[in-house]
Amino acid sequence: MTATVIDGKAFAAKVRGLVGEQVAMLKADHGITPGLSVVLVGDDPASQVYVKSKGKMTVEVGMKSVEHRMDADVSETDLLAMVQSLNVDPTIHGILVQLPLPEHLNSDLVINSIDPAKDVDGFHISNVGLLGTGQKAMVPCTPLGSLMMLRDQLGSLSGLNAVIIGRSNIVGKPMAQLLLGDSCTVTIAHSRTKDLADVVRRADIVVAAVGRAQMVPGDWIKPGATVIDVGINRIDKPEGGTRLVGDVDYDSCAAVAGAITPVPGGVGPMTIACLLANTVTACCRANN
Ligand code: GUN
Repeated sequence: MTATVIDGKAFAAKVRGLVGEQVAMLKADHGITPGLSVVLVGDDPASQVYVKSKGKMTVEVGMKSVEHRMDADVSETDLLAMVQSLNVDPTIHGILVQLPLPEHLNSDLVINSIDPAKDVDGFHISNVGLLGTGQKAMVPCTPLGSLMMLRDQLGSLSGLNAVIIGRSNIVGKPMAQLLLGDSCTVTIAHSRTKDLADVVRRADIVVAAVGRAQMVPGDWIKPGATVIDVGINRIDKPEGGTRLVGDVDYDSCAAVAGAITPVPGGVGPMTIACLLANTVTACCRANN
């Protein structure tokens, strides 16, 4: 079998198109422009690339984009003051503090200082609790984008075995909540899981979110399974230079799977599209 390649880039463009229409309507009918503010602390090169891309797409859909860069040695007090100023700014509907933060800063404290209604990442403890209890929450963007692709590919997910590899707060745990909400039987596997290959072989849906390049080989994949690869890892090419790869070994997995997301061009673009969608949602709720 050769897997269907799930085109996250095209799907994300469609989602951004819909977001753009909603933004235009908010402007025309209510005179409101949704605003997203991203706070970047330090000069981590990967974070800089993500933040630049987020800003560009935010402007492209017609929203206001405000970027705040703070030095790597910023004090926690100053960072909290920045978040507070955005919490009370009526032109800002979504706030994102780019992670990871430098070690001297308490990420939990900073994230939980964001107004939950503006927490477009869905990382605030209130949103985590709302999602976990099936209530209306801001939903983390990477799991949300992954769920949209799974629904688009498979229709109903009810009763399917889903295995998530990785237990992070950003992806693994919220992904599990979303798949449970869609009536999957969910397993979260991680670095201590025994017989990981056997666990993954039972999965109709595999979500790989461990941050280890190409760690899932094709012979772990049940024939016909749907594979969502959340990983973005840079590896050396034999001929020199580098390239991006996911957490699954693409070629061997694509030979067995029913459908698979590529890296790049899979989950990544959907994450940003969902961030924009969450910002419009936050704006609508704020003005309702
Ligand atoms: N760092 C990597 N992914 C993310 C994300 O989705 N949100 C934030 N805030 N930081 C990240």
